[in-house]
Amino acid sequence: MMGYLAVAIDGPSGAGKSTVARAAAAQLGFIYVDTGAMYRAIGLCVCRRGVADEDTAGIIAALDGLRVSLRYEDGVQHVLLGGEDVSAAIRTPQIAQYASKVSAVPEVRRFLLDLQRGMARENNVIMDGRDIGTVILPDAQVKIFLTASVACRAKRRYDELCEKGLTVTLQSVAQDIERRDRQDMTRAIAPLRQAEDAIKLDTSDLTLAESIEAVVRIIREKEETA
Ligand code: DC
Repeated sequence: MMGYLAVAIDGPSGAGKSTVARAAAAQLGFIYVDTGAMYRAIGLCVCRRGVADEDTAGIIAALDGLRVSLRYEDGVQHVLLGGEDVSAAIRTPQIAQYASKVSAVPEVRRFLLDLQRGMARENNVIMDGRDIGTVILPDAQVKIFLTASVACRAKRRYDELCEKGLTVTLQSVAQDIERRDRQDMTRAIAPLRQAEDAIKLDTSDLTLAESIEAVVRIIREKEETA
């Protein structure tokens, strides 16, 4: 195989992208890059500064001197804000909402572009996000649009948050997901949409194992012909 293989996985919140991508990457020996975590890290920084998620000027000001980086430990991605590992702190509904808001600011997207493209230049990657197949890695050899119904996604996210001990209701999780879908799909810059050459995979009726298997199969087929 010549060069590195890039797999872009895009889709709405809660479709299972990160779980599926992480497992597929482990099976294939690829690096898994979770770009949502980078937006969440910036969201966390903005939130900690007491800047409102609607305050575009405040968000842009927060980028000054900010350092977001990734570190891999036993194949697991950790996201760092300056020197601090914020991998756990970014997994709250409040920071998810902040991430969605900061990700609509062009300066924020530009800020993360090199970090994301750089990862794909130097590794075989499975990168997940909203605009990987459309903007970040338009030449990715494999593009998958992973989706599921709102009800399924809400249930999965709800279970995940409960497991972490967070107190949420299924209804509030579903509302958050619908709001984020709306924000992510209607923004002016790099909105969530399926790339023309992406394979759509609806996981509503698939188990996690079946979803992983389907993604690995798609990538292996590509690897064989690459
Ligand atoms: O995948 P996630 O839930 O961790 O993403 C958090 C937010 O970041 C999501 O609402 C939209 C934004 N995002 C983005 O705009 N582009 C990406 N490539 C990844 C995430």
